[in-house]
Amino acid sequence: MIANLTAFSSTLAGKSPPAIEIADAPKPSTRSYATEIGADPRMEPGDPLAARALALDVLLRVDATAAHADATLAAALASTRLDARDRALASRLVYGTLAWLGRLDWQLARLTDRDCASFDPRVRMALRLGLYQITLLDRVPAHAAVTTSVDLAKRAVPAAGRLVNAVLRRAVRERNSLPLPDAARDPLAHLAVALSHPRWLVERWQRRFGDEVGDLLAADNEAAPTVLRARPGARDDLLARLRAAGIACEAGRFAPDAVRVQAVDPHALPGWSAGVFSVQEEASQLVTWLLDPLPGMRVLDACAAPGGKSAHAAERMRDEGMIAACDRRRRGALAIARNAVRLGLRSIRPLVLDARNADAVLARGSFDRILVDAPCSGLGTLRAHPEIRWRRSPDDLRRFAATQHRLLDAVTPLLRPGGVIVYATCTLTDEENDDVVERWLAAHPTLRREDAADILPPTARTLVDGRGALRTLPHRHGLDGFFAVRARRA
Ligand SMILES: C[S@@+](CC[C@H](N)C(=O)[O-])C[C@H]1O[C@@H](n2cnc3c(N)ncnc32)[C@H](O)[C@@H]1O
Repeated sequence: MIANLTAFSSTLAGKSPPAIEIADAPKPSTRSYATEIGADPRMEPGDPLAARALALDVLLRVDATAAHADATLAAALASTRLDARDRALASRLVYGTLAWLGRLDWQLARLTDRDCASFDPRVRMALRLGLYQITLLDRVPAHAAVTTSVDLAKRAVPAAGRLVNAVLRRAVRERNSLPLPDAARDPLAHLAVALSHPRWLVERWQRRFGDEVGDLLAADNEAAPTVLRARPGARDDLLARLRAAGIACEAGRFAPDAVRVQAVDPHALPGWSAGVFSVQEEASQLVTWLLDPLPGMRVLDACAAPGGKSAHAAERMRDEGMIAACDRRRRGALAIARNAVRLGLRSIRPLVLDARNADAVLARGSFDRILVDAPCSGLGTLRAHPEIRWRRSPDDLRRFAATQHRLLDAVTPLLRPGGVIVYATCTLTDEENDDVVERWLAAHPTLRREDAADILPPTARTLVDGRGALRTLPHRHGLDGFFAVRARRA
């Protein structure tokens, strides 16, 4: 299904297409993930250690390999026999421990009089997991948090049991008076540790959001809601179907097809494999509304993997027309293809292409709509990807901005006169949002910025800022932090 560029003959720039070789999609692994990373496969559902052992394994893998927590957790959950309650607990433990890592490590250093980096990684993670449950999770009894963490640490390093026991028992005794940096002496350090974000980010958010900074940081530590996208116009059917299966759900507030659902694993919900719905956060759904693709159009989705917005565009176009869904990575193009097959969408043409070179391959003026859903720092999605905050640095923002400029410069000439282009990110930094847009529009004077409020559904108009951009914020709207600007070529 991945295009070999013949599908793009009318959009090719008359130059040689890039060499594209696509292997068959890999078969899903049949190996037990839990066994692979050390959890005990003999553990029975309901065993108090089972959810925590799985969480610990996921956390260690995320720590050691810089893997994404959501994908690592999903892979682990797919091969366990945990019941729904334990799945929910494992999931909360993974996301919560990653979000609160900075605060947990700061307090552990004081509880142990040691730098946390000096511990064996498995013991350190068992301590974090225990302290998270003791200090930040209401529903876990303190004794269960201590004994399970001791057991987990002992399985990794038998001699560590006593230390973990002593540290966590002290944490239980002192949990209402555990120290934080003095707010009067160093307010930034206090915020950074108390609400568990790196200091450079808190400094930046304080400059950008002023008094709202605490609310934003707190919102980043909330559990992300699970949001589905029904087929256009079929939201009521999806709500009825889910409710009939006993699943708590409600209509989203802003995006017309959005459904909020209480589910740890949305891929296990009824209708997933039949393509009845997609999983997509509400702010992300609004980006395609802003693009407003119509049936029969030629659309370029320049950074498309895993294909959420391409699929949404195809659905809104009634699958009539053509969507060139590019991604730099082959596995990205394969993910787009798999998603299109699941949804039965034929208008999507996945393509392996570095969109920074799109103007060398695709014909000028050949697309009615172009979406640049750019690679970015992702700092608007910390609820769903808590680990990102510990991985980014100010240098990354400059690097992303340079790529974003190159992408926009390469794809803008491909837009036909009268066509529309949307630039979107899921981050909150000016360098990657407003600054990129200013420079881009200045470099392409044929583009005219359009007001998102004129395009978005009425339910989403409150999300448009004074300059006509879609701008969503976790603490104000309960949505991921997205930014999107629409422009039309004269
Ligand atoms: C924000 S994600 C896109 C999400 C996607 N639009 C969706 O809704 O599912 C950005 C994507 O850009 C891809 N990417 C990064 N650099 C690229 C480039 N130079 N050309 C094309 N794709 C690129 C990444 O592989 C990543 O999948």
